[in-house]
Amino acid sequence: MRILDIIEKKKINQALTEEEIKFWIDGVCDESVADYQTSALLMTIFFNGMNEYETAILAEAMRNSGDIIDLSDIPGIKADKHSTGGVGDKTSLALCPMVASCGLRVAKMSGKGLGHTGGTLDKLESIEGFNIFLSEDDFKKQVNEIGLAIIGQTGDLVPADKKLYALRDVTATVDSTALIASSIMSKKLASGSDSILLDVKYGEGAFMHTVEDARELAKSMISIGNSLGKSTMAMITDMNQPLGNTIGNALEVKEAVETIQGRGPKDFTELCMCAGEIMLIQGNIASTKKEARKMLEESISSGRAYEKFIQMVKAQGGNIEQIKNTELLPKSKFITEIKSKKSGYINTIHSQKLGILAMQLGAGRASKEDEINYAVGLKLNVKKTEKICEGDSLCSVYHDESLSLDWIERLYSAFSYSDYMPEHTKIVEEILK
Ligand code: URA
Repeated sequence: MRILDIIEKKKINQALTEEEIKFWIDGVCDESVADYQTSALLMTIFFNGMNEYETAILAEAMRNSGDIIDLSDIPGIKADKHSTGGVGDKTSLALCPMVASCGLRVAKMSGKGLGHTGGTLDKLESIEGFNIFLSEDDFKKQVNEIGLAIIGQTGDLVPADKKLYALRDVTATVDSTALIASSIMSKKLASGSDSILLDVKYGEGAFMHTVEDARELAKSMISIGNSLGKSTMAMITDMNQPLGNTIGNALEVKEAVETIQGRGPKDFTELCMCAGEIMLIQGNIASTKKEARKMLEESISSGRAYEKFIQMVKAQGGNIEQIKNTELLPKSKFITEIKSKKSGYINTIHSQKLGILAMQLGAGRASKEDEINYAVGLKLNVKKTEKICEGDSLCSVYHDESLSLDWIERLYSAFSYSDYMPEHTKIVEEILK
């Protein structure tokens, strides 16, 4: 077999066979296929796509390129969830303890933030001492004992994805449905859980800009998961404004803790409830959405979800005093209120602009090497469709350095107004299986 023939075949839009896809991925890993050949093949896939079968084989070949975690010693269904990423997305922090406190075992491996804002692990690391690097044995032990662990990738999971992603990043081939779906799913498949819930976001602050594109990606990932024996479902959710009210690591931990205590923002709470319903049904803990919702509501009102979060923080070496009293989490030197210059209904809150502004405060990384400042970020004091008057607070900025006029102007430009109440959009647009 020759890689040149495989590139040629995809170039004329013919489907690749299992042997051809495996030959390519093996060649990526042992470096017998040159980066320029893989780059060419990635570009042909970008233009011609892959069918469901090819995409599943690609994900499987990538999964098999490294370690695969075996969670079969742990009794019951082990659940995982994945979000395609968004601004203010702290869902795992609240959702995982909620469902774990209902009896589901959650074994979650997360990544550090790829984009402008911090990822789940960065948020957890804003808790003093929180250890995201557990060994595989300790990870399993914790999932077995308390039903919940959220950690960074252990071992050598999916090395093929690291190589392909690095090439996609520099060849403008990141935004291909087949390549995104196989990249995400290969990692989910390697991390060993039985059920996977995908939160596929659409909108300005997301990878996928429209509901249609998000649906296509979700369907592709569901097909991969199901064909490889994992119960896989997806939610299509709105990222046309930040999720919840906060953007920034410690601020988001505080908001997640408030949410599992029943004091969270409406959109974020609803997202966690919908996701929790699906996860509990996938895990055979509940048989209907109604039953699942009741369990989740009780997990909050009884304090069990909060207790589960504390148990996880304690098990992973974090300072639980910062969860019991979130005022002890890292604090910025300054808090500046940004007041509205106009009156009207809030029509748009540009998530991506706010994500970049938060990153410039230090809440995210512009490049992989950047250090995160856990204390800084933004807290929205308005959400889309709310009516505000001139002089009302739009948002609070948590910062350590002084704010430049240009930064403040760009912050103002993230909000647009309307004279009429804009149409209300649902946070969960649809659920797919
Ligand atoms: N996240 C991933 O893990 N892979 C992609 O290709 C895109 C987003």
